[in-house]
Amino acid sequence: MRLICISDTHNAHKGMQIPDGDVLIHAGDATGQGLSQEVDRFLTWFGSQPHQHKILIAGNHDWLFQKHPEMAAQLLAAHPGITYLQDSAIEIDGVKFWGSPWQPWFLDWAFNLPRLGVGLREVWSKIPLDTDVLITHGPPHGVLDQVRGGTHLGCEELKARLATVRPRIHIFGHIHDSYGVAQSSATTYINGCSCDEDYRPTQRPIVLDIYPASIKIHGIEPNLRLERLERIQAFLNRSKDDPREEAVYQIMSALNAGMRDMAEIRGTSADDLLQDYLSRGLQSDLAKQIRSESKPSKRAIPFTKLGDVRAEE
Ligand SMILES: [Fe+2]
Repeated sequence: MRLICISDTHNAHKGMQIPDGDVLIHAGDATGQGLSQEVDRFLTWFGSQPHQHKILIAGNHDWLFQKHPEMAAQLLAAHPGITYLQDSAIEIDGVKFWGSPWQPWFLDWAFNLPRLGVGLREVWSKIPLDTDVLITHGPPHGVLDQVRGGTHLGCEELKARLATVRPRIHIFGHIHDSYGVAQSSATTYINGCSCDEDYRPTQRPIVLDIYPASIKIHGIEPNLRLERLERIQAFLNRSKDDPREEAVYQIMSALNAGMRDMAEIRGTSADDLLQDYLSRGLQSDLAKQIRSESKPSKRAIPFTKLGDVRAEE
C-alpha cells in the first residue's frame, strides 16, 4: 500500500504535484482561516485527486470543523471519496488508520487544548492500541517538532501515549520548519508539511510503501533505496563469472537480510556499511558501478534516526 503524505497546504494546494498512490493523507491546515469558502475550495481539489482513498484531518487553522461541524459535514457530503477523521478510525485493506486534530494550546487557535492537561490526555487515550497509521495535526514532543531557534513545540502527552500505542507510522504536520522523516525502532514519523515557514508549498509530498514486515520511504537518506538495490542486484546477476562473486554475494545477502538491522548493530548507516564492504573488498569497475548506483539522491528528504521511544521514557 502506497501512502502519499501532505499537510499544511494553507490554500496553496493548486500548484502542488501529487504523486500517485493508494491513500492520499492530509494532516491538517488545508486553509488559512478555516472559512467555509476555503474549506469548499480545498475539498473540491482534494476530492478530485485520483487516489482511491483520501483521508483528511483538521488543523489549528481549520476553524469550520470545530465551530460549525454541521456545515463542514455538509461540504464533506459532496465528496464521498474523502474520509474525514476526528478522533475516529478507518481500516483500509487491513491497515488501521486513526486521525485527530488536537494540539497543545498556542495563541488560541482551533482544536487547542491546554498543554500537559487532562484534555489532551483524554483525546490521546482514545487512540486504539492496534493503530497502524496514526495521523495527528501536531507532532509528539521531541520528534520533528522544532521551530526556527530550536524550541520543541510537540505534545508531551502525545509522546507518552505513543510509548504505549507504538504505531508503525505517525503522520503529522503543523511545524513547517521540521518537515522530514524520523525513525525509531517502533515507528516511522513523517512531518509532511507542504508549506515552508513562509507559507510557500516548496516541501514535496512524502511517499512511503507499507509492506507486512517493512516500510519503504522514497527519497530519504542515509538508507539505500530499494530500487537502487534492485538495479545493483540485476547488475550482479550479469556478473556471475566474476571471481569476486563470493564477496559480492556476501554484500547482497547482508543487504537483503535486513540492511538497516545490520547497520544498526554495527552503529553505522546502511550506506556506510556498503561503502565499507566496497573499500575492503572491491576496487574494481564493479565497485565503481555499485558506488554510482548507490549515490544519495539529490533531492533527499531530511532524515533522522531516533532511539527507541520506550528507552527514553
Ligand atoms: Fe498547524
